[in-house]
Amino acid sequence: MASSKSQILIDTKRTIASISPLLFGGFVEHMGRCVYEGIYDPESPLADEHGFRTDVLAALRDQGYTTIRYPGGNFLSGYNWLDGVGPKDKRPRRRELAWQSIETNQFGTNEFMEFCKAIDAAPMMAVNMGTGTIQSASDLVEYCNVEGGTYWSDLRASHGARDPHDVRYWCVGNEMDGPWQIGHLDAVTYGNKALEAAKMMKWQDPTIKTILCGSSNDYMPTYPEWDRTALEIAWEHMDYHSMHYYTANHDGDTTSYLASAVAFERFVNTLEGTLRYVKAKRRSKHDVYLSWDEWQVWYSQMDLVQGNWTEAPHIAEDVYSLEDALVVAQWLNVFLRKSNVLKIACVAQIVNVISWLQTRNDGLLKQPSYYSFKLVSNLARGEALDVLVKAPLVETKQYDGVPALDVSASYDAEAKTGAVFIVNRSQTETLVTDVVWQDTKGVQIEKAWQLADSDAKAFNSWDAPDRVVAKEITVPVVENGRSTLTLPPLSFTVLSTRTA
Ligand code: AHR
Repeated sequence: MASSKSQILIDTKRTIASISPLLFGGFVEHMGRCVYEGIYDPESPLADEHGFRTDVLAALRDQGYTTIRYPGGNFLSGYNWLDGVGPKDKRPRRRELAWQSIETNQFGTNEFMEFCKAIDAAPMMAVNMGTGTIQSASDLVEYCNVEGGTYWSDLRASHGARDPHDVRYWCVGNEMDGPWQIGHLDAVTYGNKALEAAKMMKWQDPTIKTILCGSSNDYMPTYPEWDRTALEIAWEHMDYHSMHYYTANHDGDTTSYLASAVAFERFVNTLEGTLRYVKAKRRSKHDVYLSWDEWQVWYSQMDLVQGNWTEAPHIAEDVYSLEDALVVAQWLNVFLRKSNVLKIACVAQIVNVISWLQTRNDGLLKQPSYYSFKLVSNLARGEALDVLVKAPLVETKQYDGVPALDVSASYDAEAKTGAVFIVNRSQTETLVTDVVWQDTKGVQIEKAWQLADSDAKAFNSWDAPDRVVAKEITVPVVENGRSTLTLPPLSFTVLSTRTA
């Protein structure tokens, strides 16, 4: 890579779209130790009166989650939501087939709503389209959202939840394109079932927003035909189309892995094109947006992840390093850059399972990507900006030449605050970079942070929990509308700004 001075040009009038707050969502599934021993652990000395781990709640609040999707995941497609409501001692203990675990049902819909309140996040529920019927989907909406005076709403009240839960966002199934899914369907059958379910659900509550199952990854043989087919059938009754995508550095090709934003952006662009195509074909005035409601780096292989019929098995508890945190940062950059069409995103999952947060009886470990997410979710506000970037290219096996800098930015005109998010994906080059504030007189950088290490594989452990953390760095000065940054290789740098 030939090194030369890089530039980031920012004009607060060059906007992409408003940043949807729901881009900073998370996902909770009854899988492994996400629910039990993760968010809910009544036996723990760290538990509050609801049985929630207080250290986990504090970390989730710190990350600023805005919405939480629940209860699955592959778990959803074999789940009868009635198992998880009512007196706890009457709830059935069941074999859970998706992850071959034992489900005690001590945590269910009403506990989930309490949990969402505790972290001030909006609930995003999912209805079972595998073993579940359109009737059970409709009943769950009535149970959650209808005031009272009917069978299901009165049942909720009798379970101690007098006020309706007022759940706005509803996923109609999970990964129904996947042969691994309990009750997997072809696209036409799923499209029709989802349409009929959504009709009933919206008759129960016309204010809800529904989310159709899209492809489970871009390597699915049915992608993107699945998306087109299901969308064409269910378009008018859906508000969002879901995307799922997991990645990892399986081949040890760190150079390509650190250019993952190319693949993320391509996935969104294809589905954005599909949405436009279907809207035109249907001559529709209705819009459907994208919901990236499962995304994360995932190393353990899904088909090997099984619980051996135990409660809260330790499965899919991955160790993440700096390179994974830099990929997460790029993922969030893509969310901002595609915020015209991407309105919801949920990291899978928020604790223990495929997560940057790990619990032990006596504590909590934050892995490096925790800091990538926290910085972006707390600072990206207002409009996403269309940033111009000039940087040398990094040659990769998978994506050819990719600019060494991956950048996004936001600006909140009302608050007069902004943020810039910069990944230097080069493993060798320090990039001296000019940030040019093209239109803003009187901009000042208020704070700056950096997540960096000379080793792409550096990680945090129980013995060294703070090896890779975001650190505040010296605030670069702005002179004549320019700031010069020195961006080390393998780094994520974040600036927060204020305009006079
Ligand atoms: O998040 C883990 C699993 O990944 C989910 O259950 C499923 O939807 C996806 O394949």
